[in-house]
Amino acid sequence: MSEHKGGMHGTIKLFSGTGCPALAEEISQYLGIPLSPRDIIQFPNENIFVRLRESIRGQDVFLIQTTSSPVNYNVMELLILLDALKRASPDRITAVIPYLSYARSDKKDQPRVPITARLMADIIGAAGADRYILLDLHADQIQGFFSIPGDVMTVFSILSNYFREKRLDNAVVVASDLGFAKKARNLAAELGMPLAFVEKRRVSMDTEALTLVGEVDGHDIIIVDDEVDTGGTMVNSVKIVREHGARDVYLCFAHAVFSPPAVERLRSLSIEEIVTTNSVPIPPEKRLPNLTVLSVASLLGEVIQRVHEGRSVGEVFQDFQYFE
Ligand code: R5P
Repeated sequence: MSEHKGGMHGTIKLFSGTGCPALAEEISQYLGIPLSPRDIIQFPNENIFVRLRESIRGQDVFLIQTTSSPVNYNVMELLILLDALKRASPDRITAVIPYLSYARSDKKDQPRVPITARLMADIIGAAGADRYILLDLHADQIQGFFSIPGDVMTVFSILSNYFREKRLDNAVVVASDLGFAKKARNLAAELGMPLAFVEKRRVSMDTEALTLVGEVDGHDIIIVDDEVDTGGTMVNSVKIVREHGARDVYLCFAHAVFSPPAVERLRSLSIEEIVTTNSVPIPPEKRLPNLTVLSVASLLGEVIQRVHEGRSVGEVFQDFQYFE
């Protein structure tokens, strides 16, 4: 923990919404900076009211709020907190959003549909954020939707370290989705493992795994994706690698969205371990016995510290070539 002096944007002020209180507290402990007091009230008519309980004038504010379930409430709370912060005259506001909802709609892939990832980027900036810090977006191009600067960090540095320590000597990384193929390739390279792909086609709200490209017979398998939402993609991926002779199967993903019936689906799988992070809070009833949750607190805390001090954020990943 370092001594905190005022930087060029004042001193760090940490605020959190109610989306990820445990993670916010962990980040606060990493930085040795308390969460600033604020009131958040929801009126009987569901309108949200917030009040900051200390001055932030001229300071460097970081607002930690994830936008997982309840998604729409957490998004509004984020925006209303940003508005309150902006009106309290800080020097700078950084929105720290461990999981960005609505990011999966990032193009018009059918007529007359919205691009909600762009909408989110617009409203976060309009509400008052000067910068953002995000983790593993559904598609990296979403960065281009923001007109404010920011940093998108990857938790796969943390996940790959975890798997490296397992010393699986015969494993293959399997991308559960072609959209994740490039990142899966980088992870496989990082772990020194071969790569395979599941070709998936989405049929209405469900998914169907159609083809496995690559060799998995007799190998341990690490199936990777950016998130598990309803669990359909992972179920299909496990099924197809099993059909092709996989040995032990591990699941590895950044965001445990776990919408129903994900937990029941994951529980029904015969797999070794499910490895994810706390970018989305996972309540006790969703914590399966084979679930391992790695914390992103020190990653986010370190990035906050570096942004505040105007130091390189890329250096955090200097041993990890994930983005290449
Ligand atoms: C989709 O493009 C994503 O990368 C994930 O594969 C998807 O969000 C997983 O959704 P589900 O768990 O509902 O299959």
